[in-house]
Amino acid sequence: MIKIFSDLFNKKEEVFVPGLKVDMHSHLLPGIDDGVEDLEQSLETIKALIALGYETLITTPHVMGGVYNNDAALLLKKRDEVRAYAAGKGIKINLEASAEYFLDEVFMDMLKNDKSKLLPFSGNHILIETSFMYPSPYLDEAIFLLQASGFKPILAHPERYIYLHEDWDRYCELHDKGLLFQLNLSSLTGYYSPMVRKIARKLIDAGRVNFVGTDCHGARHIPVLQKAIKDEYYKKAIALPLLNNSLLS
Ligand SMILES: [Fe+2]
Repeated sequence: MIKIFSDLFNKKEEVFVPGLKVDMHSHLLPGIDDGVEDLEQSLETIKALIALGYETLITTPHVMGGVYNNDAALLLKKRDEVRAYAAGKGIKINLEASAEYFLDEVFMDMLKNDKSKLLPFSGNHILIETSFMYPSPYLDEAIFLLQASGFKPILAHPERYIYLHEDWDRYCELHDKGLLFQLNLSSLTGYYSPMVRKIARKLIDAGRVNFVGTDCHGARHIPVLQKAIKDEYYKKAIALPLLNNSLLS
């Protein structure tokens, strides 16, 4: 159970909702993508996520050829810096680092030619994303090669891909292949768009959600996460057999 507080008639009222202890999608390593910019922002965001009930944060900076050229060594170095900074300030958090891999030629080259460059997280999971607008020419091949190599691919925020919105059969096809789906909690609030919220609800109703994630890029996302965990569909989502807490190390 996680504890949240709300101000009601100037009186602090405690509200308890069942929660998740593990988040596996966020951008909390400073200065390497469009997430937090420095150690102070990183710590401020981590503290806010702890207040939401999280004990383990598997943070996943973007890896995208030519835009975010983050390799595994840099991700681990940054993770260690944040760990040390948090510990120095007395903040207790299990912080792990992986990545959100954009499906592009750079990713496919790593997958085909040097898998040791990939940085999976607990259980050999790899988080992948595509363009929001256009289908990826690499998606089916990436799923096949990842699975053939013993990885478990997870599609980040399937509800956000505009090219999938009118193609429910494709969602089912991908999920039935074993591509795991990670829903963004913020999608439940309509934060991205009413259509994204509609698809998020449809995925939950169909039981086609394996993980939920914050996709938190910094303190600016905390209010929407606070709102999301009060949504009726949050309760439905966490009633699904989610894999989040199975990642506890
Ligand atoms: Fe993300």
